[in-house]
Amino acid sequence: MDSVTSTAESKKVADAVTRRETISITDNRTGKSYEIPITHGTIRAMDLRQVKVDANDFGLMSYDPAFNNTASCISRVSYIEGDKGILRYRGYPIEELAEKSTYIETAYLLLHGELPTEAQLKDWTYHVTHHTFIHESIKKFLDGFHYDAHPMGMMISTIAALSTFYHDAKEILNPESRQKQTFRLIGKMPTIAAFAYRHTLGMPFVYPDNDLRYPGNFLNMLFRTTEARYRPNPTLERALDVLFILHADHEQNCSANVIRGVGSSHVDPYSATAAAIAALYGPLHGGANEEVVRMLHEIGSVQKVPEFIKRVKAGEVKLMGFGHRIYKNYDPRARIIKRVAYEVFDLMGKNPLLEIALECERIALEDEYFVKRKLYPNVDFYTGLIYQSMGFPMTMFPVLFAIPRTSGWLAQWQEMLLDPEQKIARPRQIYLGYDTRSYVPMEKRS
Ligand code: CMC
Repeated sequence: MDSVTSTAESKKVADAVTRRETISITDNRTGKSYEIPITHGTIRAMDLRQVKVDANDFGLMSYDPAFNNTASCISRVSYIEGDKGILRYRGYPIEELAEKSTYIETAYLLLHGELPTEAQLKDWTYHVTHHTFIHESIKKFLDGFHYDAHPMGMMISTIAALSTFYHDAKEILNPESRQKQTFRLIGKMPTIAAFAYRHTLGMPFVYPDNDLRYPGNFLNMLFRTTEARYRPNPTLERALDVLFILHADHEQNCSANVIRGVGSSHVDPYSATAAAIAALYGPLHGGANEEVVRMLHEIGSVQKVPEFIKRVKAGEVKLMGFGHRIYKNYDPRARIIKRVAYEVFDLMGKNPLLEIALECERIALEDEYFVKRKLYPNVDFYTGLIYQSMGFPMTMFPVLFAIPRTSGWLAQWQEMLLDPEQKIARPRQIYLGYDTRSYVPMEKRS
């Protein structure tokens, strides 16, 4: 948000008061009443600060662990309407983008706010493509990882290490520097991911081929062996492109919140992106696609699904790939992914775990436990099956989420930096620990 928009926001608050779009709060401790403006369906937490018992009181705060009901920013990047299963990037429905766009164009849209003209897309593609190579020293420290190192661990460390190569990245308030780091990050993510994968196999690294498109080049760096020139299968390349589009952004999720929070200290974007990748790695976030396939293996057969669902309902395990903080309806991405899955299976053969997944979904969509809690398949439920059929090992699944999410992270990071209302992210706490007490010498401790 630029300063003009910030002024517009202040005006909206003033208008809300004039139009009595306000909420009145009576503090029963003092009998005093306060009128607080409501804008965009929210009240400002800072407006609560005036609610005080006496002059020495700090003022009222709101308490919201895990941000269940707190907007932390004003954003214009992506929009989710959870009850209706709607997702839009910059206003464009995800279904249309998945059908008509490419990941590289979608990345431009997320970062610039508009779809590119032909010339803009050409220029953008050129710059991203010409930042796919990595410094040879990076290969050396990738070599330092064990053969069985998780590629997400390698990604976190290697992306963080990029900050030691590009000192200009510290200039976060310089738009040209931000642009350059954006080209580098979007360009290099697939290269580092592919090199991490090849390292775990003990295979030589394959350098980027600038004549290939973004997803095709990634497949080249992953899977090329003795061919003089790698030709990606068009169905697989398009499937990967669609998956990349679907994963590109998802408003204020855990890792977006992390890149905003870490970035708010004004650290360079490589360090902030590494933190976002770490957040994504967790099994409740982007690591869920890996966990889904592990879970399906553990279930083992269609016959054993009811028994597993019983354990889920007893609270012993989670049905991974189900549930979402915002979607209380079918995740629109999961619907598109199910279609892509069949296109990949037609080519590569059906994944034997598919029947187990379909049975889990069938039972869950009818079962009261899931219906009552509005638990539906999310983006991660079917992606693992596709990735597995495409030849990826399970540990690479979250990496396939991290690559496209980089554009969304950078869009969120930039929006945060340019928003004059944002400052270093620093929540409050409710302290319920000890009051002052004196140091106890060792001999007196029990
Ligand atoms: N299996 C069984 N029960 C579940 C599940 C699940 N997957 N998800 C939520 N619940 C239950 C939960 O136990 C709670 O029940 P109760 O009201 O009886 O305590 C209720 O549903 C509400 O769940 P919550 O934990 O309060 O929901 P949340 O918004 O805090 O968590 C979530 C959202 C995605 C972390 C959670 O649904 C989950 O752990 N799902 C499995 C992991 C997963 O698939 N993650 C990928 C998310 S989508 C991709 C991404 O954006 O990263």
